[in-house]
Order: sequence, then structure tokens, then C-alpha cells
Amino acid sequence: MKKLIAIALCALITLVVFTACVQDQNGQADAVNPDNHNPVTIGIIQMMEHPSLDLIRETFIAEMRALGYTDVNFEHRNGVGADMTVLTTIAQTFVGNHVDMIVAIATPAAQAAAATTSDIPILFAAITNPIAAGLVDDLQNPDANITGTSDKICVESIFDFALELVPDATTFGLVYNLGEVNSVASINEAKALLTARGLRYREAPVMGTAYVQQAALSLVGHVDAFFTPTDNTVAAAMPVFAQVAIDAGIPIFTGADSMVMDGGLATVGIDYAILGAETARMASRILAGTPISEVPVATMQDFRTIVNRETAAAIGVSIYNLPAYVEIYP
Ligand code: TRP
Repeated sequence: MKKLIAIALCALITLVVFTACVQDQNGQADAVNPDNHNPVTIGIIQMMEHPSLDLIRETFIAEMRALGYTDVNFEHRNGVGADMTVLTTIAQTFVGNHVDMIVAIATPAAQAAAATTSDIPILFAAITNPIAAGLVDDLQNPDANITGTSDKICVESIFDFALELVPDATTFGLVYNLGEVNSVASINEAKALLTARGLRYREAPVMGTAYVQQAALSLVGHVDAFFTPTDNTVAAAMPVFAQVAIDAGIPIFTGADSMVMDGGLATVGIDYAILGAETARMASRILAGTPISEVPVATMQDFRTIVNRETAAAIGVSIYNLPAYVEIYP
């Protein structure tokens, strides 16, 4: 039954991809009256730097300004990889500075913020699996000081597209950080799906960005394609990973569009500019006084199907005759 629901969900998401239908996540008007706002300070805690997280932060700030929050003071700090000590120190600094709201980008940052304060509103951005991460118990009914946006991917859509591009692939190499709970959920889905389709996989877990190249090299010669989910550690090392794969003539299917822009072959991934803007709309509702319990987690449904033209050419994958909704980058 669970599987049926999952398939139905994936089908629905695929439909959304096909029709490029853009949904309003709130279905409600934003209660913003900029003239009534005292200056506020928002502490932005970003797990680490990689292009997707940077884009989320930039689009969040831009949308806040567009919503009339022109005098907001954004205090922004980056962590260093999944180092919880650094992230916790940043969260403690924000609490000590009495910020009005903490925006936490990526799972470890949100976990650090959640463990640090139960009073200051926390808005998380781009959490693959907010429940598995221990941030909320119920997506529809946040019952603490925390809510936000989820970028849950549709693993099945990614593999459907992968097998369209490389129909002969039978063994997939899975590269991810075992310490990122956001990745483990998608990897488990990938394994179940591959097994159900009679395909095989090999794993190369990594402990940090510096291990990605070696992990990828260890799978060369054993796999027909790579899959990596929305894994922050791998995202930060994507150019290096992509070079290994291109040299070996192996396609990488990724969880995020930024990882395709950094040399991966293809994905069906979330549009993070839309996610950043949606996170800002939620922030504005909370700053305007809406209780967090009335701001459910927004699971994004705006997907981009995207292929890297140069990577495809380099490894000899044909990208002609793809449906019109597929974006060819660059
Ligand atoms: N979803 C990731 C998390 O929960 C964060 C993330 C957003 C990400 N965009 C990404 C990871 C792109 C890798 C690539 O932590």
C-alpha cells in the first residue's frame, strides 16, 4: 500500500513536471504590511558553501526585500561541512544576539538551530526529510518553534530519466555521506527501486568533501552510472567528482540541478530559486504574527528536468529527441 502511494505520488510529481504547473504553496495571501514593521534581525545559518545553498540564501533575501522588508538586518554565517560544533556555535551566537528569527539552510544547520533554542522562531530551508531529521513530527502541524520548506526529491523520476538516457546501465554507483540523514533517506529509496527493477548497485560512502574523489575512483570499472542524492558533502565536491566520471566515461545522475551545472549528467531536481522565495513568504507570515502552528511545512513541487550538454558530449550520451520540458545546460 505504501508503495502504491509512493508510485502515485511520483506519478503526480511527474505530471507536474510535464505540465510545468506552478503551485502556490500557501494558498493564502501574505499578511505583509511593511510600514508596520520595526527593524528586525534574521540570523541565517547556512550549513556550508555550495552553489545550491548560496542560491537559496540569495533568493530568500531578495524575496524578503521584494515583500517590503527593506530594513531587515540579515546576519549570515556559514558552517564548515557537517561539523556540528561550528553550526552550534553559530546558532548560540544568534540566540545570544536575540535575533528575531533564525533561517537555517540545509539539514545539519537546522538540527543545530533546533537543538539550541525552543523560543526563537526557526525557519528551515531545503530540508530533504524534516521528519527523519527530527525537526518536526508532522509536516502539516508544526507543534514547536520550527517550520520551513522541504526539497524532497522524487528518486523514481530521476531513475526513470536516467534509464531513458542510458538504457543499458545495470549497475549504479551510490556516492553519499552516511552522516547526512537527508541523503540516507533518498539512498534507501534508490536501493529499493533498483532492487525492484532487477538492477544492481555498489556503494561508496564518504566522510567529507575531501573523500569524494577517492570514493568515485573506487567505483570506476565496477559501475555503469553514478547516483548521488541531495548530499551537501558531494555537492561541494561536485566539480572534482564530475571530472573523475567524465574521464571514465560514466554518467552521474544527481539529486540537484546545481550538481548538473557543476558537471553531472542529469537530474529531475527542485527549483531552488522558487524554494528560496517560498521560504521568504513563510518568514513574512511569521514575522507578521501568524503562529508557527498555522504555517505547515511546504514541500516543493516545482521540478526541473535538466541535462548537461558538455558532459553528455564528453561521455557520448545522446541528448537529441528529448521532450521539450527537458532543459539543456548550458
Ligand atoms: N536538501 C539538503 C539537506 O537537507 C540541502 C540541499 C539543498 C542540497 N540543495 C542542495 C544538497 C543541493 C545537495 C545539493 O540538507
